[in-house]
Amino acid sequence: MKNGSRTSVGALRVPPRSLIGSSSSAVTPDESSTLGDKYLLGSGRSDHDRLRVISAIHDGRTRELLRRAGFVSGHRFVEFGCGLGYVTRWAASEGAHATGIDLNEDHLAVAAELAHEAGLKTAQFRCANIYEPGLEPESVDVSYSRWLMVHLNRPVDAMRAIHAALKPGGVMVCEEADVSAVYAEPASAAYAELRDICMEGARQRGVDYSGGRRAHLWAKEAGFEIVHVDAHHPHYVTGEHKGFWNWTLRAVALGMVKEGSLTEARLEELVAGMNEADASPDTLVAHCRMHQLIAKKPDMKV
Ligand SMILES: C[S@@+](CC[C@H](N)C(=O)[O-])C[C@H]1O[C@@H](n2cnc3c(N)ncnc32)[C@H](O)[C@@H]1O
Repeated sequence: MKNGSRTSVGALRVPPRSLIGSSSSAVTPDESSTLGDKYLLGSGRSDHDRLRVISAIHDGRTRELLRRAGFVSGHRFVEFGCGLGYVTRWAASEGAHATGIDLNEDHLAVAAELAHEAGLKTAQFRCANIYEPGLEPESVDVSYSRWLMVHLNRPVDAMRAIHAALKPGGVMVCEEADVSAVYAEPASAAYAELRDICMEGARQRGVDYSGGRRAHLWAKEAGFEIVHVDAHHPHYVTGEHKGFWNWTLRAVALGMVKEGSLTEARLEELVAGMNEADASPDTLVAHCRMHQLIAKKPDMKV
């Protein structure tokens, strides 16, 4: 999708259910914008394109992080909130028994199709809520989630569910955002205002878009030992990824327009301002800061 073009939150495609496993908490793509902790980012083609760009920007660092966490061939690997399943498929291609779990059946159908096309027999996808993933207790070596906890009302409970699924000594790997770090230089009032509107909208829905910086605290509360923390912060002056946060903030704000908490006219003004910043090769645009965490479930006491 090009900068400045309009996104749509309607007209979602319903995938064949036979392609993916399911648990009792499955919801349809339409419902996923209001259930599952009121996840405001959508589904359908525009959101798939957005998830492809997330993969292009972040997968290299994600793989390094997973290797640092001790991920190896033969591991039982589970990705929570897998979206289109890029990381799950990579883990399977490395020889893991990999499962991707998500609430959104539309995403999962695409993930399963891509795994099938790639001939990956050890990648599976299932529809479940992270709070009730339906996994055998103490069966997982490495869990992974990216950009999931910041969308949840109960990130500590989500981490407790991961803790229950991990083997003693197993590791939870998370990459979570701090959206408050999005900025432009020279300053763009439109970027700053829409960032703040989205942060406040998230706060009112009981989720924390700057939660990446607190992920280690959530993990400790859920019973993990902290092994490693780091963060990286992509910046652009030109290039195809420069407008990613223009696009993402707009996608969140479209949900707010739908809810009635932001007018369409104001959103259009802000999008025009962000497009101006993106079009100028003199304007630096910073994405969210991405926080990385490796946390360990304590080994069994002898
Ligand atoms: C921002 S996307 C990130 C997707 C993927 N991790 C990536 O980095 O490309 C968040 C994903 O979490 C899923 N999700 C949201 N709430 C969830 C929940 N309660 N349980 C499982 N998945 C959830 C959404 O459906 C969406 O696919």
